[in-house]
Amino acid sequence: MQVFVIIPAAGLGTRMAQPGVAGHAPKQFLELGGQPILVRALNAFLHVSSIHHIYVAIRQSEIERVEAQLREHDVLTRVTVVEGGDTRQESVRNALKILPAADDDIVLVHDAVRPMIDPATIERTIEAVVRHQAAIVAVPAVDTIKHVERTADGAIITSTIPRERVVLAQTPQGFRCHILRRAVEEADADGFIGTDEASLAERIGIDVAVVLGSARNFKITQPGDLALAEFYLKQS
Ligand code: C5P
Repeated sequence: MQVFVIIPAAGLGTRMAQPGVAGHAPKQFLELGGQPILVRALNAFLHVSSIHHIYVAIRQSEIERVEAQLREHDVLTRVTVVEGGDTRQESVRNALKILPAADDDIVLVHDAVRPMIDPATIERTIEAVVRHQAAIVAVPAVDTIKHVERTADGAIITSTIPRERVVLAQTPQGFRCHILRRAVEEADADGFIGTDEASLAERIGIDVAVVLGSARNFKITQPGDLALAEFYLKQS
């Protein structure tokens, strides 16, 4: 059994844009503690010995620049760059197309913009996939979660979701390869676009297990998030 990783890194990172500042780099290429965010995420996976190869999906116009960056940081030996798509799902699908994985091999998908992932959590995710066929990292909800209806006058609460039944999905999200391939194929055929891979598996009836993640493994989304990640780095 081999383990492969797909890192979709073809997002534009528009929420990272600073008002009035032109030409920001997509967030996955910004530096965190002297290393590009993407390289930091890659290094966590490269520290897990059972991982065979990593596929990173990059926007066509960025491929040359990113390959040079990965070469400079000496991480290209177990990493292949593939062209990303217009949605995260398309980026994952493009990588899946060239992945030389057998049906029972494991595929982990990880957001490029979660650089604080640690090898121990990756290993626990792989173990959970071996046991359950599909598993994702998630954290319990600490806030009370509301369902809302968006109206012209703003959001109106329609109900409260019992917090003890809610977890917040992170990545990595891991699957036996045949499950992920079928989940993506069926979503594409139905015109369904999900914001994570688990949602594609859930809709075809797969039970997806949960591995406990941590607040550190957050998604760098907004400008202040880099400072928070720097803080976590200094703590470790
Ligand atoms: O936009 P969001 O925060 O959900 O992005 C999650 C991950 O998906 C990021 O690593 C981003 O680069 C990636 N992505 C992608 N292709 C897209 C959009 C997002 O690979 N078209």
